[in-house]
Amino acid sequence: MELLELTLRGFRNYRDETFSFDPRCNVIYGENAQGKTNLLEAIVYLACGRSPRARFDREMIGFSGDEASLIGRGTVGERAREIEIRLHRARRRSLTVDQVKVKGAAALGEVFHTVYFSPEDLYLIRAGAAERRRFLDDALCQLRPRYELALQRYRRALEQKTRILRDADERPDLLPLLPEFSEQMVMSGAVLVQCRAEFIARLHEYAAAYHLECSGGREALALRYETVSSATDPLSPPETLIEQLRAHMEAHAAAERASRLCLSGPHKDELRVSIDQQDAKQYASQGQARTAALSLKLAERDIFKNVLGEYPLLLLDDVLSELDPRRQEFVLNRIRGGQLFITCCEDDRLTALLGGKVLHIREGRELS
Ligand SMILES: Nc1ncnc2c1ncn2[C@@H]1O[C@H](COP(=O)(O)OP(=O)(O)OP(=O)(O)O)[C@@H](O)[C@H]1O
Ligand SMILES: [Mg+2]
Repeated sequence: MELLELTLRGFRNYRDETFSFDPRCNVIYGENAQGKTNLLEAIVYLACGRSPRARFDREMIGFSGDEASLIGRGTVGERAREIEIRLHRARRRSLTVDQVKVKGAAALGEVFHTVYFSPEDLYLIRAGAAERRRFLDDALCQLRPRYELALQRYRRALEQKTRILRDADERPDLLPLLPEFSEQMVMSGAVLVQCRAEFIARLHEYAAAYHLECSGGREALALRYETVSSATDPLSPPETLIEQLRAHMEAHAAAERASRLCLSGPHKDELRVSIDQQDAKQYASQGQARTAALSLKLAERDIFKNVLGEYPLLLLDDVLSELDPRRQEFVLNRIRGGQLFITCCEDDRLTALLGGKVLHIREGRELS
């Protein structure tokens, strides 16, 4: 899949700019604060309807305007595809795929796929479990439509159940609804557990190999999936998982009533990352954490390639500046295949190494 053309109007610091991209490699360079990350953000947003950094859509609308639009054209397989997103300060956004209006971001997700890596992805290693669950959810929503559906159902049921438990004193009449929501969490939770377990098993394989190579054969990266204790083997068939999750819910029902909280379930899952058998969250050095995060992202990209038959777009923001020369070389050698967008502050070395197109960005414009 390739994104070949992108038009941004009123998006961040881009007033009206059309870019054409190389199907292989695009080096985006310019000084600080010129719009390099904004450009990558636009591509990710176009592909999945979620920004890697904005919390609210309106943050992406240019300061001086009330609307923004993004139009991307490219090919997936042999087919020409087009996505358009319009953002408004006062209204909901509108989405169009191949000139047909669509409702949810799920329809966007079926067109282009992206793997985005930025220095902030250190949080993938350093932050709490929620950040790693988000990584799993983002990847699996792109890979498996049934995962996205299960995740929505699970979240809705969790929200309802949490509310009923919390308000039990004021609204005891709602308590009889608890088993129904618990059962919904069991059914959708089993899908989450199984998909996450499969994904992590493959992720482990690829990421460990990347990390080993990138660290010059010195460090062993390992991933472990931790979910509800009663799911003895998360790779079991769904029927087994459903039974185990149900037994778990029932065993905890009294404790949940007493604490008024949804105590355990896949919403507490953890992807444990360790380097040489030490928990990376606590012990990894800055460089180790960066290498581990990058290995996870490159592994994600390989899994996409296996499942979709095509590499997703790979977007690397400011990645090289923080790596030592050996690790830089490793990255540059390992990112071939698939379309690449990479930002940096000087172009010479990178373009010489990578070839492809150079886009020089200054104050929200591409200099020609
Ligand atoms: N909604 C917005 N409207 C207008 N300008 C914005 C908006 N959001 C951010 N900007 C501006 O965009 C500029 C460029 O941001 P961007 O993060 O893309 O820079 P960059 O080229 O990646 O720089 P660096 O090399 O420092 O990472 C910033 O100066 C910022 O103030
Ligand atoms: Mg930037």
